[in-house]
Formats: sequence, C-alpha cells, structure tokens
Amino acid sequence: MSRAPYVSFRVTPTGRRANAADIVAAVEREIAAGGLPTGSRLPPVRVLEQQLGLSKNTAQVAYDELGARGLVETRAREGVFVAAPMVGIAAAAPVTSPPLPIVRPPALMKPENHRGGLAIGTVFIDPELLPSEKLAECARAVLKQPGLATLYDPQGFAPLREQIATRLNARGIDCEPDEVIVTTGSQQALDIVARSLEIRRVALETPVYAYAKLLFETLGLATTGLRLDPFDGIDLAAWDRALATARPGMLYTITSFHNPTGYSYTTRELLGVLELCARHGVAIVEDDWGSDMLSGSEYRPMLRVLGGRNVVYVNSFTKKLLPSLRVGFAVADRAIVPSLLAMKRLATLGNVWLSEAVVAEFLARGYYDGHLAQLQRELDARYAACLTALAELMPPGVRWTTPGGGPTLWLELPRGVAVEAVVAAVARHGVIIDERSAAFVGEPHLTGFRIGYAAHPPETLARGLAIVADAIRALM
Ligand SMILES: Cc1ncc(COP(=O)(O)O)c(C=O)c1O
Repeated sequence: MSRAPYVSFRVTPTGRRANAADIVAAVEREIAAGGLPTGSRLPPVRVLEQQLGLSKNTAQVAYDELGARGLVETRAREGVFVAAPMVGIAAAAPVTSPPLPIVRPPALMKPENHRGGLAIGTVFIDPELLPSEKLAECARAVLKQPGLATLYDPQGFAPLREQIATRLNARGIDCEPDEVIVTTGSQQALDIVARSLEIRRVALETPVYAYAKLLFETLGLATTGLRLDPFDGIDLAAWDRALATARPGMLYTITSFHNPTGYSYTTRELLGVLELCARHGVAIVEDDWGSDMLSGSEYRPMLRVLGGRNVVYVNSFTKKLLPSLRVGFAVADRAIVPSLLAMKRLATLGNVWLSEAVVAEFLARGYYDGHLAQLQRELDARYAACLTALAELMPPGVRWTTPGGGPTLWLELPRGVAVEAVVAAVARHGVIIDERSAAFVGEPHLTGFRIGYAAHPPETLARGLAIVADAIRALM
C-alpha cells in the first residue's frame, strides 16, 4: 500500500540547530493558521531529522509531545497525522482551485485510424509497404553505439541535417545543413513558421490540408482561400484579384499531389504563382509532402527551386518511412533560421534524438532511395488498380482526378448528390469517408472527397469503392 504524501512546514530554530521544542512550536503554529488540514501526514521522523540535520530521536520526541497535546495521532505502519480538531475549533474550509481559463478546442477531425471501419480517404501508406524491419535494424545499430547521446541539438541531429541538405542539393535546392530545422513531422514545421509570422493573414488553396488551415486559424491568423479546381487547374487571374483584395503576407501551398485533391501545379502555374506573389509582396511556404512520391525515381519541380531561397520549404519522412517516427523538417534561408528555431525551442527545447538518429542511419546506409523506388512501384500498381476499379464501378457523372503520384486522388460526385448523404450511407456498411468541410476556406465549391489508394490492398479498396458507387447510384 502506498502512503499518503507528507506535508511540509517551516521550522525556525531558536539556536544553531532546531530542537524538539522548535518542531512542536512549528506544527502548533501551522495547525492554528490552517496550514495543516486534519488528516495531513507529517514528514516521517527520518526525513525530518535528515532535512534539519537533527540528532536521532529529536523528531520522535517532538511528535510524542504533539501527540500528548492531542494535535497529532500515530497510525501503525502509516505515519503521524494531524488529528481532528477538538470540538469548538473549526476545521479549515477546503479550497478548490479554479479551472484553467482556456479556449474551446478547435473542431478537429476524428483520428484517421478509425477502428474496425475501412477508411478509404486516409493519406497514410499501408504499413505493409513501409520499411519497418530496416528501420528496426537502424534503431538497433544506433543503440549499439557506445552510450546514448546525452545532449540534443535544438535544430536537429546534425548528421541528419547534413543528409537532408545533401539530398535536397541533388534535387536543385541550394541549402546548407544549418538551414535545415528538423521538426516533429512537417506539422511542427508549419507551427513554427506560423508562430514566427509578423503578418496577420495567410492565403492558402481551398480546399487545403485541413490541419494547416486549422493551425493557422488557431494561432489567430486570418485566412484567404484561393480556389483550386483539380479538374480545371488554377485561375491565376482570380488568384491575382484575391491577393490584391485580401493582401495576405504569406501563401501556404502544396504544389505536388495536393492534399486533398491530388492536384499538381503545372510549370506554367508554378511560374504564375511566383510572379503573383512577387508582385503582391507575398512570401511563400511550400509544403512539399509529395514531390518525391512519383515513379521511376523522378520528382516534380518545386517552388523552392524556381523561386529561390526566400521560399520556405517543408517536407517530412513520416508518410514514407514510418508515421510513428514523426520526423519532418523545414528549410529556410539562414537569415530567418534564428526566429524559426526560437519557436521550436520554446515548444520542445529539442526533439527526440533517437528518432532523428534512426532516420539519419537509414539515409546514411543508402536505404532511402531503394525504399522509395520499391514503394513507388507498389503505389503505381495500386493507383492503376484504383483507376480501373473507379472506371468499372462508378456511375456516369462521377469524376476523379488522375494525380499519377502521391497517395490520394479526389472523387467528385455528380451534381445533386450530397456528400453528407453518401458519407452517411457508406458508414452503415463500415466505410469511412473523412469529414472534409474543414478543408475548405468558406463554402465548398467541390462536392466530393479524397480516396487514399496507398492505404489498402487493391481488393480491399475496390470493396470500399463498390459500396461508395452503390450509395451514389441510390442517391442519384
Ligand atoms: C499536405 C500535408 N502536409 C503536412 C502534413 C503533416 O504531416 P506530418 O506531420 O506527419 O509530416 C500532412 C499530413 O497528412 C499533409 O497531408
């Protein structure tokens, strides 16, 4: 049985060292002032003697005297407790701490790992396709090195930052390891950027990765939605007007395999966006979760390459390696690294060295490119199977995007079929479609949802898509 925690009180010695009378006086004073409620456990004799440097038995003598005065009682094997007050002496009123004044939690979507159901919109990649064995091997190697790292680098494990910079250099991004900040997923990269901003308004595509939008809003930033139609592309003239009117200071953009639509900017659009942002004085944060999720070890162009060092670049290993490692990063020009890093340090001081060291080891062993190539072959097969299933199953009027990479595509319902009705109908058959209204800034201009073809074996996804197709047909 664990004992109750003991109370503490101040003993003021009358001589060079406290004596038993000093302890008696201190306890009496505290009880009279209401500082030791009835039932409080007094410090064990040994503890009090050790703390005050008393000779043996001094505390026991004091407690015996307090007992004789009826102020404390000794309970066998439990300790010495403040006795109930004598009749006529009111017990101190219990004090309850007031609740923490806090804002209401933002309405977050349900966690993606809906138990039991088939989540057909998830962005995660099937764990079967992730290199958990090789990562475990790297973890063992890291742990075998003599001693654990005792200190951490607030900016992130230096060998990992070097590996990241080298990989990005090979893709045309000029950056140095001291311009890489390792983060807890790219979500923390977005968080430190948002906390560092001097501006009050950001622009983002609508729809957009919902947790980026919610994060910006929660940190008090106003948002301007730039309409993205994944079937027609970007209306640069409309974006021009929106930027001129709203005057945001920053654009957050997902240029490759956009979440949730799967859309990838054309080169003309990338250049057009750069031109617009330059003209309107809008800085760019590029969330590049997808540029390396493309077959044949190819990768898509990035704004950070075309638009230069002022573009803040964000990416992550979490989807492609193992979500639980939570390793992402931001790349920023050296001039602004101190501000971003300060925000990270205030949040976490530094992140978990072990995760960072495991990813660094994985990269240093040259495992990553081989893994990506193998993963992409499997994703390509699943993508092709998904397109085939959609073509076979979906009734006329249903459209879908053809991203050709990344883990998801967008399914657009025929006019007149309400998304909510489809969501409710398929839920009755255990198929879960992610809540999607949080992804839009303002009123949704699309009527559809994300399909994650990377998360499930083709037969499983086809089973889910058949249920979706039946629901749509019934509602048409
Ligand atoms: C576009 C995009 N950016 C960033 C994130 C954050 O992911 P993580 O923190 O796991 O890197 C996600 C997660 O799904 C995402 O879809």
